[in-house]
Amino acid sequence: MQQPLEAKPKRIAVVGLGAGGIATLRAFSGLPEDVRPRIIITAFDDRESVGGLWVPQDDVPEPPALPKTPLYPGVRTAGPHPGMTVPNVPFEPETPLLAPRDAVLRYWQRLHNDSLLSSTRVLLQHSVLSANWKGSSSMGEWHLTYIDLTTNVTATKVFDHLIAAPGVNHIPYSPPFAGQEEWLHQDSRRVLIHSMWYRNDSIFHNRTVLVIGGGASGLDVARHSGRSAKKVYWSRRETSLSLRFFNAPTGVESVPAFSHFASDAVHLSNGSALPQVDFVILATGYQVRFPFLTAGGVLDEVDSDSPQPDDHLTTNARYVHPLYEHTLSLDQRYPLSALFFIGIARNDPTGIACYAQALFAAHTLTQPSLLQTRLQLLSALKAREDRVRADSGVEPGRNGHKIDSGYGARAGYDADGPYQDLLVHSLRELDPSLAGQSGIPRSGFNYTERWRRSASMNSLQVMYGWHARLVNEGEGLDGWEGDFVRGVRSEADYLDAVSRFVEWWEEHKDSVTASSI
Ligand SMILES: *[C@@H]1O[C@H](CO)[C@@H](O)[C@H](O)[C@H]1NC(C)=O
Ligand SMILES: *[C@@H]1O[C@H](CO)[C@@H](O)[C@H](O)[C@H]1NC(C)=O
Ligand SMILES: *[C@@H]1O[C@H](CO)[C@@H](O)[C@H](O)[C@H]1NC(C)=O
Ligand SMILES: *[C@@H]1O[C@H](CO)[C@@H](O)[C@H](O)[C@H]1NC(C)=O
Ligand SMILES: *[C@@H]1O[C@H](CO)[C@@H](O)[C@H](O)[C@H]1NC(C)=O
Ligand SMILES: *[C@@H]1O[C@H](CO)[C@@H](O)[C@H](O)[C@H]1NC(C)=O
Repeated sequence: MQQPLEAKPKRIAVVGLGAGGIATLRAFSGLPEDVRPRIIITAFDDRESVGGLWVPQDDVPEPPALPKTPLYPGVRTAGPHPGMTVPNVPFEPETPLLAPRDAVLRYWQRLHNDSLLSSTRVLLQHSVLSANWKGSSSMGEWHLTYIDLTTNVTATKVFDHLIAAPGVNHIPYSPPFAGQEEWLHQDSRRVLIHSMWYRNDSIFHNRTVLVIGGGASGLDVARHSGRSAKKVYWSRRETSLSLRFFNAPTGVESVPAFSHFASDAVHLSNGSALPQVDFVILATGYQVRFPFLTAGGVLDEVDSDSPQPDDHLTTNARYVHPLYEHTLSLDQRYPLSALFFIGIARNDPTGIACYAQALFAAHTLTQPSLLQTRLQLLSALKAREDRVRADSGVEPGRNGHKIDSGYGARAGYDADGPYQDLLVHSLRELDPSLAGQSGIPRSGFNYTERWRRSASMNSLQVMYGWHARLVNEGEGLDGWEGDFVRGVRSEADYLDAVSRFVEWWEEHKDSVTASSI
């Protein structure tokens, strides 16, 4: 059959092949057979393999040169992996519930390998330098300039749509603490680094360490630092989730929030000082910035948490505005659906959230009638931002893209309707014929399966128990870890394994000294 002229293939650029970019390839490769020939994808990534931050880089450059990833050798998933997958694709058989990094990397690489359309081009070791929109609000093209890192040759390629999925753990955030320079200059032995450079505890040898930050990186660093340091303090704010759930590991002393540096000591918010500390590690997170978009003039960097204009994209290094549901740019300077972001929303189930955003992009981009008007989407965004203010008591620009109720505030989403379900279900509501195909659940079923919700609810117990056993019994597939997941293959098996583990932990938690967590 002759294709009508307007059905000429859409040229789509995907920037980044970590979880977000791979979920994107998966969503597009699952589109109906008659739609697939109408898209041509080119995917860029600057690493030597796909997998984003799970691709290791164990030799870190000296600061201020940035590592490509914060990943360190002993890292495990922060919760049980069955809750972190995309639907119907479990991890490899017999993977320990808190998966080591190589298992996670293989998971995403396998998903990538299974998600390639014959027309998809993958350009590894290609770094996108800038994305410019050339055209108007109704038509035009993206001009992407990129460098081939193996030859240093730059080139420009033209696209209709841009899907930005480079990840948000690339540019460390170091709060502008007062007195930093004075503290450092007083004693040449003193060290101040961001956790992005952390690889193992050898750097803490014979040191008195202060870990600042109660998030996942702070927990990890504090957990390992006790082994070789002389003494470790762990400073967390009162609002930190880990303060609520995790005691400091053995040998680590929990202290109040950090206040400031002075030449004599680091000072805490309760007024006391720690003069002995000679090594400070900042586990203070990352900046939400996309230099290639800023270089192309499509994302302004601003320095304020206050509301920003609605006609063009800005980021204050925490929050990109205006984005419909943390994914679709509502910038007026190009057509709706010209620019999507995948993977900037911060919630626990990464895989399922990225895949939901990717499904939203894949379906709305190939079927524009699934999108409301820009004004309608903007007013939905306003309503969402008002709810963030009401739920969390802070400006959306300060709350950033935190959406999971686990972060303490409900951040605009109801506890009974996960973020990712709203995105995917909205497609099915607008076009009921999508139900049951191309990644969209059948009618009457939710995108987030019932078991996944309960698995993620159990993730804290699994974390406590698993780490307690790791500490007491050691790790490795020839020990209890392997025994525990022996024969486990399917999603249902894994779900059963989570339940068995939680039961085990409930029975034994009083007798197991969970010393390290
Ligand atoms: C993915 O494909 C590449 C290239 O064919 C291959 O080298 C690699 O082993 C595959 N990875 C997985 C996890 O299947
Ligand atoms: C490319 O540029 C980098 C940084 O300037 C340099 O280290 C590298 O040797 C160059 N590679 C080639 C193939 O020219
Ligand atoms: C620990 O990390 C440093 C880099 O920070 C590296 O040079 C060293 O080889 C690592 N040691 C081990 C035992 O992995
Ligand atoms: C430990 O650090 C102190 C200074 O704080 C230094 O005097 C001592 O020599 C160091 N010991 C070792 C074994 O490195
Ligand atoms: C402040 O916190 C430190 C560390 O936990 C503690 O040792 C000290 O007693 C506290 N000081 C005050 C005034 O509460
Ligand atoms: C789907 O989600 C809604 C809202 O969270 C819930 O009330 C309903 O029971 C779920 N349905 C199924 C079939 O799990």
